[in-house]
Amino acid sequence: MGVNGVTRTATAAPAAPREDRESSNAGARASGGGAPRALKRTLAIALTVFSVTLVVVTAQAPPTPQRTTKDKVYSKDQAAKGETQFGKVCASCHDPAKVAAGKKPAPQLIGDKFLDKWNQKTLGELISLIATTMPDDGSVVLTDDEAADLVAYILKANNFPDGPKALPSGEASKDIIIVK
Ligand code: HEC
Repeated sequence: MGVNGVTRTATAAPAAPREDRESSNAGARASGGGAPRALKRTLAIALTVFSVTLVVVTAQAPPTPQRTTKDKVYSKDQAAKGETQFGKVCASCHDPAKVAAGKKPAPQLIGDKFLDKWNQKTLGELISLIATTMPDDGSVVLTDDEAADLVAYILKANNFPDGPKALPSGEASKDIIIVK
């Protein structure tokens, strides 16, 4: 028994590593062996963790309230900056009191008519219209930030409340809804 055991161990020992090599090779070749199975398990775990995270994140995120122009979305300082700019670049067409005699005034940006037209549209649209098409005569090229300042003034002129923060241009303001 003892001798047999030793003999078996002795003959088995060199064979074992060969078997290991062979089986791992076979596994890799068949691409259904140990490694891919481990990969599948890792993927399954990752997927579970991901979906659990997703559920937790979805559950915790409060429904994003739709911000509107009534939510103090611009600052007083910014509106003052916009007003100065408006006087220089926009009033000659948009302020009926400043439009040259005989010239047809551009649509007013203050009052119900303007708000009716822009009701439910976004500040992003208004900023981008101003930045890309105004002034109508192309005399000045405005940056998006300058357009946001002008919108701040337009909001103030239409009696929307100001707040602690300036209205940014871009992503942060593009979904703010204009309301009456
Ligand atoms: C040379 C004249 C002129 C100047 C200067 C001008 N605009 Fe205009 N603007 C117009 C005209 C004309 C329209 C109407 C265009 C149309 O209806 O297609 C208009 C339309 C607009 C509108 C859309 C109004 C609406 O009822 O939807 C906004 C907002 C606006 N302008 C903002 C500005 C701002 C801000 C400035 C200054 C940076 C400016 N404009 C300078 C002529 C001008």
